[in-house]
Amino acid sequence: MASSANHYAIEFKGLSKIFGPHPDRIIPLLRNNLSKSEILAKHGHILGLNNINIMVPTGCMQVIMGLSGSGKSTLIRHINRLVDPSVGEVLVCGEDVVKMSRGELCEFRRHKTAMVFQKFALLPHRTVLDNTVYGLELQRVPKRRQVESAMYWLERVGLRGFEDRYPNQLSGGMQQRVGLARALTNDAPILLMDEAFSALDPLIRVDMQTILLELQKEIKKTVVFITHDLDEALRLGDRIAILRDGEVIQQGSCQDIVLRPADEYIMSFVRHVNRGRVIRVETVMDRTGPESAQNGVEIRAGTLLEQAASVLLSSQKEYLIVTNDQGGRLGSLSLRRLMGAMVSA
Ligand SMILES: Nc1ncnc2c1ncn2[C@@H]1O[C@H](COP(=O)(O)OP(=O)(O)OP(=O)(O)O)[C@@H](O)[C@H]1O
Ligand SMILES: [Mg+2]
Repeated sequence: MASSANHYAIEFKGLSKIFGPHPDRIIPLLRNNLSKSEILAKHGHILGLNNINIMVPTGCMQVIMGLSGSGKSTLIRHINRLVDPSVGEVLVCGEDVVKMSRGELCEFRRHKTAMVFQKFALLPHRTVLDNTVYGLELQRVPKRRQVESAMYWLERVGLRGFEDRYPNQLSGGMQQRVGLARALTNDAPILLMDEAFSALDPLIRVDMQTILLELQKEIKKTVVFITHDLDEALRLGDRIAILRDGEVIQQGSCQDIVLRPADEYIMSFVRHVNRGRVIRVETVMDRTGPESAQNGVEIRAGTLLEQAASVLLSSQKEYLIVTNDQGGRLGSLSLRRLMGAMVSA
């Protein structure tokens, strides 16, 4: 059997975290379905996380979503063991972080993970370039390679020419580009982003999402991205896990979440989503398809409904013919069906 390390960069298995003086006394109580508020009121402990099971495939952009206090930061901090679990396992690249010695953990943090912080966390007395090389400096990489790598990533995030500036000479959006360049310069396989774009103005935020998505096509890192914004989650996530009071309420693809919200809580999030930008043609097509293709226009599986609608409307045809990458027919989609899928909740 192939090792799970080949498929999953990060595995949370039965992970629970209780904050307070005697977590071991509280853990057995979790089996009785005690709620977070009961654990606090009756036992004076805080339930951080309860029985988390999430497998993050290598190269996947995994979004963790949830309201304030739902446990997002506690979860991401388990990945590089800034928080110790009360019970359960955290495997990263197949290795159990809980079992690592202090030295192993130090090496692991330096080489396997890089973080992008909400408040940028740039060193104010260092230039953009010197901030960007920081991780490689700690790794004692030769100076020339540090600078080469940092300059490459600064250029990729659109900061060429700014390398000698200081953080306080840059806007928030530019500072976060430095944060991203610094993380990428570390060249770690796992990128941890806790509300990394939440402090930015809405338009700058969307710009940063675009930069991240463009880069990710090429770097294919495993990214854990925390947000409380559903639009951001749906735009970035290959997979989304939604937390409430320390528990995973639902996890799956964007389409799973939007088309099959697990409960009222998630429904309240997804109600206002622009479905045309999330749902793909093959999900809602008619699989029997029309007999003839004469009055149809071809469209690739994977196309989002909003774009498909614009293709169909400008084609003057009656329906879309959904094809696979080789041009084979998979099904069809009439304008009526397409519009219905875009508006129905
Ligand atoms: N060190 C700690 N000691 C005690 N309780 C803690 C500690 N860290 C987190 N908590 C509690 O654990 C729960 C989850 O907190 P966490 O910071 O993970 O939430 P979050 O989803 O990241 O929230 P936010 O969106 O506000 O950042 C909260 O009830 C919080 O008060
Ligand atoms: Mg947080």
